[in-house]
Amino acid sequence: MSTTYNTLVTSDVDLQPYNTLQVAAKASHFAAIESIDQLQEILQHSQADGQPLLVLGGGSNILFADDFDGLVLHVEIMGKEILKETDDHVWLKIGAGENWHQTVRYCVEQGWGGIENLSLIPGTVGAAPIQNIGAYGVELAQVFEWLEAAHIESGEAHRFDKEDCRFGYRDSIFKNELKGQYLVTQVVLKLSKDPQLNTSYGAIQSELEKRGISEPTIRDISDIVIDIRNSKLPNPDTLGNAGSFFKNPVVKNKVFERIKAAYPGAPGYSMGDEETKIPAGWLIEEAGWKGKIVGNAGTYKQQALVIVNHGGATGKEILALANKIRTSVADTFGIELVPEVNIIG
Ligand code: EPU
Repeated sequence: MSTTYNTLVTSDVDLQPYNTLQVAAKASHFAAIESIDQLQEILQHSQADGQPLLVLGGGSNILFADDFDGLVLHVEIMGKEILKETDDHVWLKIGAGENWHQTVRYCVEQGWGGIENLSLIPGTVGAAPIQNIGAYGVELAQVFEWLEAAHIESGEAHRFDKEDCRFGYRDSIFKNELKGQYLVTQVVLKLSKDPQLNTSYGAIQSELEKRGISEPTIRDISDIVIDIRNSKLPNPDTLGNAGSFFKNPVVKNKVFERIKAAYPGAPGYSMGDEETKIPAGWLIEEAGWKGKIVGNAGTYKQQALVIVNHGGATGKEILALANKIRTSVADTFGIELVPEVNIIG
């Protein structure tokens, strides 16, 4: 092993500070990746060991249900660079390790619009395209141009354009065919200097009215989204959580009609002619889980879709609670919830 490798990789590392669910878990090996060169150096050696690899960004969408017997690659590639600028747009290249929310606020300060609705989403820039983060009527795909990612087996850098990423609802090729095969190093976004604001989400509209704002700026939208999120979602610094634990299920209209017959107040959003998206938070609340505490884990009292760590919960405890909720929702409604968080172990 080379000296560089030995200084880059540490052994037996506590992952609690690296996951927002604040679960205690150990990685047998851990390396901070600050550049693609460092990654290549590490990969050359780790391949010889044949140990499993795990790419970790902000740890805001991951549940360590067990210790990780392998090498964690913690992405810390920083930097922002304007690639191109016109009268209307700016193409911003951002290091994958940059904090997502700080990046949003930086763009808001510059007057570059497009991601203000995605304020306060925890995590890193590199993780954003993996699950195509979205909130309040906007998703990353709408401003995404391309990304650079390193192929983990060869260390080679590849470019992925928007079509290559196959973005869907909280989904991309990196959660499917290419799962675990690439480490995102840079992300390029196309932001607008004359942005079309998205105020379609009810809570944003009512907040604008309440504040008497008729011509909102991107800063107004960002501030409002921050306030809405703070009022609905727990701050992971004080109460461990990974945001929505499950995806909102999309079901055939006849399934939704059956539920609606039994629960006339059931919310649903039409997704084309044949399908309806049902808020998982509603299903979980209706099944009796909102605000419930089981051991050291539970669901958040204001948003049943968020599983929280009340302190000292193990990954296995959280997984057991998630499985109980899934079974209960399946028994009550005949709907299978699919986790949104990445479960390790
Ligand atoms: N609801 C309940 N009870 C609850 C929670 C929700 O009845 O305890 C029902 C209500 O009818 C509410 C509806 O669900 O109107 C929707 O709730 P909310 O606006 O909180 O949104 P969501 O569908 O639960 C999604 C995203 C969030 C994102 C918000 C806002 C998913 C899985 N989650 O949540 O994303 O912030 O919309 O756009 O799509 C995340 O991905 O981690 C995340 C927090």
